[in-house]
Amino acid sequence: MNRRCPATLLLAALSLGSVAGTTPAASDAATIATLTAEARAAAGELSGQLAGELAREYAISGRLRSIVVCKYSAPELSSQISRLHGAQVRRVTLRTRNPALGTADEWEQRQLLDFERRHTGGEAVSTLEVAALVDEPAGRYFRFLKAIEAGELCVSCHGTKDALNAATRTRLSSEYPHDRATGYRVGDMLGAVSFKKALAEARP
Ligand code: HEC
Repeated sequence: MNRRCPATLLLAALSLGSVAGTTPAASDAATIATLTAEARAAAGELSGQLAGELAREYAISGRLRSIVVCKYSAPELSSQISRLHGAQVRRVTLRTRNPALGTADEWEQRQLLDFERRHTGGEAVSTLEVAALVDEPAGRYFRFLKAIEAGELCVSCHGTKDALNAATRTRLSSEYPHDRATGYRVGDMLGAVSFKKALAEARP
């Protein structure tokens, strides 16, 4: 249990059965539990489908072509999965390659910084996630963030200088002159999948 994460507390309270079914806290906990399952599934779909497409393209046409595929496939897959779940599902990070799509909002930034602290403290990236109900000016939202771990394939385009070959570096710097998404090693946190869904009372 952990003071930084009210969602964890609510979930723990629910699983202990210590909250009566009709209290607001219990109904919030139930909402969080249901939507967390959906958000995990959506995050898995996005990461899984993207990794699949990348690996396929990489094998067929190599790293340089995959950069282009990645550029168009990632946003398209994000929109498809978002539509499917009636939510905003996207990848965010503290050091973007494409700032127009990957920039974390304030809530996401706070969670990513917290994930980094937890990872530095020894927690595996694959276990880092957070879920909460957040009141925003437009209404109440379920928000969820799950960290993405850098694997072998990822560091060929997001890695340290020696992991990136010269052609990849050149291509990346011409496509993304403000690229900050390099320097990662296998096992680092590369970013996170974000899932945001308006609750019934929120404006869409
Ligand atoms: C072939 C090169 C390539 C590989 C391999 C690759 N990426 Fe990327 N990655 C990119 C490009 C290009 C973008 C920018 C896409 C865009 O324009 O939206 C990107 C963007 C991202 C972003 C979005 C945030 C940002 O910086 O804009 C994340 C998160 C990310 N990649 C994670 C990964 C992970 C995890 C892997 C391994 C499964 C991976 N990438 C493998 C090229 C690659």
